[in-house]
Amino acid sequence: MRGKLGAVNLTRWIGVCAAGKRVARAMRSLFGVEIQGATVILESMSITGYANQFLCDLVAYVPGKPIEDTAREHGLRPEDIVKLASNENPLGPSPMAQEAMREAAGLMHLYPDGGGVKLREALAAKHRVEFDNIVLGNGSNEIIELLCHSFLNQETSLVAAEHAFVVYKLMATLFGAQYLEVPDPGFIHDLPAMAAAVREDTRLVFVANPNNPTGTLVGQEEIDRFLEALPEHVIAVFDEAYFEFLQNPADTVKYVREGRNVCVMRTFSKAQGLSGLRVGYGIANKEVADLLNKARQPFNVNAMAQTAALASIADEDHIRRTVQNNQEGRAMFESAFAERGWEYIPSHANFVMVKVGDGDAVFREMLTRGVIVRALRSYKLPEWIRVSVGTARENVRCLQVMDEVIQL
Ligand SMILES: Cc1ncc(COP(=O)(O)O)c(C=O)c1O
Repeated sequence: MRGKLGAVNLTRWIGVCAAGKRVARAMRSLFGVEIQGATVILESMSITGYANQFLCDLVAYVPGKPIEDTAREHGLRPEDIVKLASNENPLGPSPMAQEAMREAAGLMHLYPDGGGVKLREALAAKHRVEFDNIVLGNGSNEIIELLCHSFLNQETSLVAAEHAFVVYKLMATLFGAQYLEVPDPGFIHDLPAMAAAVREDTRLVFVANPNNPTGTLVGQEEIDRFLEALPEHVIAVFDEAYFEFLQNPADTVKYVREGRNVCVMRTFSKAQGLSGLRVGYGIANKEVADLLNKARQPFNVNAMAQTAALASIADEDHIRRTVQNNQEGRAMFESAFAERGWEYIPSHANFVMVKVGDGDAVFREMLTRGVIVRALRSYKLPEWIRVSVGTARENVRCLQVMDEVIQL
């Protein structure tokens, strides 16, 4: 049947490929329209109909709202806006990194070092691993993508906690793998349940430690037991984007030194204050690191980012001040939330998740008053928001606005 039914009725509303393919299936079962029916649909689809089906099905990542957009949309001055939406460092990049970037500006006509040698050497020394254990990424997000690129396809699965960092799910979807979501009672990763969820076809298990957006942590003993329970065909990925904020962190790099199937992810975006440059890294056993290095673009980390990251590693003072500011700000938020009777999840990172009723409405109202936080509907947490820790002044302003807006 290559008739009007397909051509006329369907052309109007088949916009995207996923919908088109679903319609094709429905046509087949309802009207017995076989291959030719699908042809009709294909002819009437837009170019997205020919795109990678997994990409079409993907719900795009929603980043924190930028300051400039908020200022324009709400008639505010950018300098009056407080952005506590993306877990950035409110103290900015390290002064040493800023100085190194100024010096490097005149060399930006040259391609970066594609091997990232100086930075990888410094990171290998810092973590007491070998050069070949380090993979640089365009943010640690790219390490997630490279892992999925290397190990996932339609015949495989990935295990993660129910409220884990959302990019794992996006990437699993993009590569057509099954995403196995394990309940996390009290928002804490249930590592025994995650190990039990591993199947023959599982290749990656992600442990975000601490997790975003919950801020919860799992400890050394649980991690040790978890690793013991994992079979050989699985890579344990420890996403440690907020590592620097921890008091007594678990050591996962030791597993890399032991040659286990482990990848530890770190980033320069959070405590190091270099989110805008996009630089992160993986510390992995050599076989895994080698695969990730093959999968990446030759110049995935730009020259300015390499320069700034290198200088930043040496600036321990800046990290100390950052961690101190974070401890004070986080304690202020947590005690203020407790005083007001607002449920919150005690955090180990540079943000706090708090229950406010209608999270979207609170987010929108706060936005009109110039404070940007993060609504968490995309994490299936519509009653919660996540507030990043800012400077003392920013935190006080945020709390004032929350007081005006939240009526629980
Ligand atoms: C848990 C976690 N992992 C990874 C990332 C990615 O960070 P980046 O790509 O900036 O290194 C983030 C950023 O928010 C995060 O919260």
